[in-house]
Amino acid sequence: MPLKLDLCTEADMPRAFEIISLAFGHIHAYVEAVWPEHDTPSGRAAGAERLLIAKQTQPWTHLCKVTDTDTGEMVGFAKWDVYDGVVPEVPTSMPEKYYKDDDAKKYAEYIWGEFTRRRWESVRESGGNLVSLDITSVDPKHHRRGAGSLFMQYGTAIADKLGVEAVVEASRMGRYLYENFGFQILEDVLIPNPPKQQGQQEQFIHWMRRPARSYVASNEPAN
Ligand SMILES: CC(C)(COP(=O)(O)OP(=O)(O)OC[C@H]1O[C@@H](n2cnc3c(N)ncnc32)[C@H](O)[C@@H]1OP(=O)(O)O)[C@@H](O)C(=O)NCCC(=O)NCCS
Repeated sequence: MPLKLDLCTEADMPRAFEIISLAFGHIHAYVEAVWPEHDTPSGRAAGAERLLIAKQTQPWTHLCKVTDTDTGEMVGFAKWDVYDGVVPEVPTSMPEKYYKDDDAKKYAEYIWGEFTRRRWESVRESGGNLVSLDITSVDPKHHRRGAGSLFMQYGTAIADKLGVEAVVEASRMGRYLYENFGFQILEDVLIPNPPKQQGQQEQFIHWMRRPARSYVASNEPAN
């Protein structure tokens, strides 16, 4: 199977964001609000810039790509956050320049806050001894070829090596992939829209957790 996983370089960010945009499409209120017009050239450039900033400023983040080694095409992108004992300060505001007006910015901040709230509680409660899957995305042309599973193997191996739990805010589509890797649903959440966005689509998540496991290196006996 000609797929392989590597960490991203800075030059990968435009394709990484293009994959996010293609994979999520327009059915996720969170994606629409946080990355406005993500399917336009300016929206994609903004998204790539924001991934680059994350790469440069979040030492806990692992930006991963899966490439088809026959064609050289990057087919998937994922962001695992490995806090490793660090409890980061949670940002509460979004940069103004990415939003058309104050309402759009405030809505993005609201939905991001609600979407990630359980994650930050877990990071705090664990003292940063946690891994969190922030994004998994595979270009729809390449679904069901195993790219998503490579991302999961990568992050769960780190969780096991550190002996920590893993968490994810799962989409309906991601849920089955995550269950294959030991995640369980703790809560189904529909994020209610604030009054100004009443009538628009609302974001649904399965809040999922994978308990800590002890690490057994493949060449060591299991007991
Ligand atoms: C979820 C996603 C990342 C899966 O990527 P993928 O590369 O297709 O996943 P894999 O090929 O490794 O799938 C492995 C297994 O996961 C399960 N699975 C994956 N996608 C599934 C789907 N749409 N429905 C049901 N099960 C699915 C299956 O058990 C699958 O094994 P199978 O193909 O032998 O049946 C991809 O569908 C995607 O990008 N979706 C849109 C974005 C998204 O929702 N991301 C998750 C955010 S939390």
